[in-house]
Amino acid sequence: MNIGIIGTGYVGLTTGACFASLGNRVICVDNNVQKINMLKKGHMPIYEPGLEELVKQNEKENRIEFTTRISEAVKKSDVIFICVNTPTKENGDADLSAVETVAESIAGHMNRYRLIVEKSTVPVETGIRVKQTIQANIRNNVAFDVASNPEFLREGSAIHDFLNPDRVVIGVESRRAEKILKELYKSFSAPIVVTDIRSAEIIKHASNSFLAAKISFINLISRICDKVGADINKVAEGIGLDKRIGSDFLRPGAGFGGFCFPKDLAAFIRIAEKLGVDMKMLRGVAQANEEQKEFFLKKIEDQLWNLKNKQVGVLGLSFKPDTDDIRYAPAIDIILRLESEGVKVKAYDPQAMLNARTVLNGTLYAKDPYDAAKGAEALIILTEWNEFKQLDFKRIKKLMKRPLILDGRNVYSLEKMKEYGFQYISIGRPAVA
Ligand code: UGA
Repeated sequence: MNIGIIGTGYVGLTTGACFASLGNRVICVDNNVQKINMLKKGHMPIYEPGLEELVKQNEKENRIEFTTRISEAVKKSDVIFICVNTPTKENGDADLSAVETVAESIAGHMNRYRLIVEKSTVPVETGIRVKQTIQANIRNNVAFDVASNPEFLREGSAIHDFLNPDRVVIGVESRRAEKILKELYKSFSAPIVVTDIRSAEIIKHASNSFLAAKISFINLISRICDKVGADINKVAEGIGLDKRIGSDFLRPGAGFGGFCFPKDLAAFIRIAEKLGVDMKMLRGVAQANEEQKEFFLKKIEDQLWNLKNKQVGVLGLSFKPDTDDIRYAPAIDIILRLESEGVKVKAYDPQAMLNARTVLNGTLYAKDPYDAAKGAEALIILTEWNEFKQLDFKRIKKLMKRPLILDGRNVYSLEKMKEYGFQYISIGRPAVA
């Protein structure tokens, strides 16, 4: 098929590269000239494992191209995916102005039937708005369909997730749209859930809210474990083995972040409010997440006593491993708070330091984890990169001013830390003295 992708963020770029790798011809559009120029030269504007190789390979085989002109994509494509940003406004609403602009522009260039598919995460009823916008701006009365096909990929494992989904959701209003989307996904072994557009839109927001709730739930339980000296890792294992609950997304930590959960929770709460449904439960999920960062900060303060002029090393800045994305990353909030209290932070992250520099001005950046630990009164773990799992702890201990590790992601075993002679404080597990 000929596919147009509007927006080259995590979702757009991964969708484009994966559809191309399945043998489709893909044209990706972005209004950011710099980004498109980078992509044309084979450089990725984001760090996502395997993406650069996949894009390059498909470019070589002439299955993917990049442009700043929507007109070109609309002319060449049968199916057009809207993958633009839907950031949060101050009041929690999703800002859908980019979706509207793109819909107007698509309408203006359509000269035969097109299927326009929303893939960006959008509030319920956006599809209807997109349809009305296209209808209002279309020339020559050509036929079109709007559909919703939410994406469930995670950053850091985007390609694998896209190609191996648990399910494909398609929200459609016509048999024609259903047939096209089923054809596009025909090589996938996952079940296809065919529904109306509104239900598809709700599936996406409800899925992310449920996952966020799972994390806040386990984080709340971690605080109880902390109080009584129980072990949250064992508690999570014991809960998760119940098939009705499942063990995924029960990893405790210093809060969840990223551009999806916090934003989608806020948007879903707002939509529900507008519809007269009070989402107390989800407000609790968001609040528990904020409190979890405080809970970890309190542990740091308890150990360091006076924060002013204390030097600490931080390992991990991105909101999760295998990405350079720092949006809503707990690490950033925690560092900003520590710095506001006079702590001197030296941080290291395998990929996210460049992005971090745009928001953390007072922070020093280390060349590796050992450099971050040098002279530090505490080493604070905020992202569970694989690189941090295999450190030379004898060396780390020698480099530090005090052998104290505060682990916001429960990366290390209590026994190992004891063996190395560290004071080790983690989340919801007994402290190692
Ligand atoms: C999330 C969803 O998992 C995807 O299904 C969805 O497509 C995506 O949002 C989106 O809407 O675009 P993502 O934000 O990339 O994906 O990353 P996750 O792996 O879900 O992690 C989100 C946050 O939750 C991270 O800060 C992570 O550290 C945290 N987390 C995750 C935990 O604290 N504990 C867990 O058990 C799992």
